[in-house]
Amino acid sequence: MELTVGIDFGTSNSAVGLAVNGQPWLVDIEEGSKTLPTAVFFDARGNLRLGSAANRALISGDEGRYMRALKSVLGTPLLREARMIGPKRQSLLDVITQFLSELRLRTEAQVRQSVTGVVSGRPVRFHSQNDKANAQALIDLTEAYTRAGFKHIDFLPEPEAAALAAQDLAAGEIGLVVDIGGGTSDFTVFRKSDGKADVLASYGVRLGGTHLDRALSLDHVMPLFGAGTQVRRALADGLLPVPATLFNDLATWQKIPFLYTKDTERLVKDLQRHAVEPDKLARLFEVIEAELGHDVAFAVEAGKIAVNTDGQGVIELGLVEKGLSASLDEVSMSASLARFKTELSEATTETLKLAGVKADAIGAVVYVGGTSLMSIVPDAIKDVIPNARSIKSEAFTAVVDGLAIAAGQKQLAQSA
Ligand SMILES: Nc1ncnc2c1ncn2[C@@H]1O[C@H](COP(=O)(O)OP(=O)(O)OP(=O)(O)O)[C@@H](O)[C@H]1O
Ligand SMILES: [Mg+2]
Repeated sequence: MELTVGIDFGTSNSAVGLAVNGQPWLVDIEEGSKTLPTAVFFDARGNLRLGSAANRALISGDEGRYMRALKSVLGTPLLREARMIGPKRQSLLDVITQFLSELRLRTEAQVRQSVTGVVSGRPVRFHSQNDKANAQALIDLTEAYTRAGFKHIDFLPEPEAAALAAQDLAAGEIGLVVDIGGGTSDFTVFRKSDGKADVLASYGVRLGGTHLDRALSLDHVMPLFGAGTQVRRALADGLLPVPATLFNDLATWQKIPFLYTKDTERLVKDLQRHAVEPDKLARLFEVIEAELGHDVAFAVEAGKIAVNTDGQGVIELGLVEKGLSASLDEVSMSASLARFKTELSEATTETLKLAGVKADAIGAVVYVGGTSLMSIVPDAIKDVIPNARSIKSEAFTAVVDGLAIAAGQKQLAQSA
């Protein structure tokens, strides 16, 4: 028999599940784990490693091309540009296809059935204000699934999947799913009844943990690499700012690999020669030449999580220069992230408006997604909905649980 599975293709983490007697059952998608990092590494011979194996290859400094946050590129022109990735010319669409294909193969190996159908999660909106890019992102993702060998492809908005899996709500009670992941924030207002979740409204914005990482990197790390400093003009008097795009790209997970070119190295060397503070540009050159951009991004992410957990943290940059680091605490982090908190409150208000319910009608808020563990998230939601109960669900698997349930329902409908 052919099987339909649920796939949560996340910006940061992915997972696969299916329904057994209507209940979600998650595939061991990599050794000992139900989720895997959405990361790939092509070694010098073009062999693909994914998930934690890709992360290990990056950390051990193996030669090859590492990539993360691929989902953020869906719906953008970058997706279809062919580039040298590892020893092969390929596009990011090819890379996503290989990632999804490997998820299918691993699932088939475990369940010993052919997997031809998928209910995939999708953010409510991949791109906040751009309907065309949203529509294109869905076309892109459908194409990737098709090329990865799936024949029957359906999508369910990620927070609606989480609503389907939500527990601890009384019959008839109204809940709000707040799913803040790596790339997007997604909201669903729903009413739970008879194991079903009736959706009243869903809404989303392009804001996730990778955007928090970028803001922290731009504020606390990039100045150490020369952001905001100046260079002397080559043929005239006066000073010019070092171009900001370099730092923006270096602070943006999905753009990092494209900085590793001879052209960028030449540009940075040239800037260094004319820099008012050449030591900082020397660090930037080191990051580009030794391909340390992802290591820096991981250090920022670790610093973010440490401050959120312990109230303070350090962004370790010793790989770039011995002894280099940036310290971060609650005050400096909240200053960098304040505008995101406002954006989350506004998105919550908009979601309630779309659903036509007042804040006090919400009985419970169900928190989903890794970034919902950031304290700014419940703070932002409570500014709008102060009286609801908080339900902390399984942050990393609530969406795939719901997709697995939906996949089971689809399978039943097909065999009926
Ligand atoms: N303990 C933590 N505290 C704060 N943030 C965390 C924590 N653990 C993980 N994160 C952040 O959560 C994000 C990943 O969450 P998750 O796996 O839910 O995203 P995703 O489902 O892959 O993304 P999306 O749904 O947006 O496509 C990352 O940005 C990561 O830095
Ligand atoms: Mg997610």
